[in-house]
Amino acid sequence: MTVKISARDVRMDFPARGSQERVSVLRGFDLDVREGEFLSVLGPSGCGKSTFLSILAGLTARTGGRIRIGGKELAGINQNQGVVFQGYALFPWRTVLDNIAVGLEIRGVGREERRRTAQEYLERVGLQGFGHSFPHELSGGMKQRVAIARSLAYQPDVLLMDEPFAALDAQTREILQTELLRIWEQDRKTIVFITHSLDEAIYLSDRVAVMTQRPGRIKDIIDVSLARPRSNEIRNSAEFVALRQRAWEVLKDEVQFGVQPAPARSTTPAPVRALQGVV
Ligand SMILES: Nc1ncnc2c1ncn2[C@@H]1O[C@H](COP(=O)(O)OP(=O)(O)O)[C@@H](O)[C@H]1O
Ligand SMILES: [Mg+2]
Repeated sequence: MTVKISARDVRMDFPARGSQERVSVLRGFDLDVREGEFLSVLGPSGCGKSTFLSILAGLTARTGGRIRIGGKELAGINQNQGVVFQGYALFPWRTVLDNIAVGLEIRGVGREERRRTAQEYLERVGLQGFGHSFPHELSGGMKQRVAIARSLAYQPDVLLMDEPFAALDAQTREILQTELLRIWEQDRKTIVFITHSLDEAIYLSDRVAVMTQRPGRIKDIIDVSLARPRSNEIRNSAEFVALRQRAWEVLKDEVQFGVQPAPARSTTPAPVRALQGVV
């Protein structure tokens, strides 16, 4: 087993607005992500999930600690990573194909190859026929597919995803989760996937790392032993429900919204639904 990303004692403090003090967002954050694994980071709102991802992407400079990606100390923006955010971040004046090709353009890939690669990834995310559409003509789910295609077309070593499906309706979200798994299974690039949904974390991942509340650190890591390839029905299996229950046991003390304890047996425990809505 090769370690792809190693974070040791990572610390992040932000200056607090209107005061001399600093807000401690990450403290003592340790995590190893294995080569080729799908790892989710689950945690309550405000615990520092996005901050950690932004540090991994090289967009935010950490206050302390060590991070190695592919054996190299992380310093500045890492060109070998693709990042997918919740808000799509598509260019409204560019067509779908030109949005997908943007990373390749920045890399200096020639026009013909850009077109070919963009077309290939357009098809991979099931958007054939929409290459010449503009973002405003697409639904939220389709825009998120474009954002995923754009990150994949760049052929990153590591894919960093920050709650990419959080803004989508439940059904679209489930469809895209399954599609993401199907795409990932083709080449098994390392994925770090941030979410606050227990269900999503377990369905997608090889392992789920659960964070504490702020200052965030990894509290526990849950091995998800569910067989692959996975499809939606697996969510109703006893094994899935037991894993979700375990993750909830780790997470619930970190969630301070007076959510009731999870019932012992239910396919969709009320507190899980509450957590998905609230946190
Ligand atoms: N650039 C920043 N400046 C100051 N505070 C920040 C900045 N970015 C994030 N924070 C603070 O760090 C905390 C964690 O934020 P974030 O990483 O976005 O949490 P999460 O993604 O887990 O919800 C929040 O309290 C947020 O206000
Ligand atoms: Mg966030």
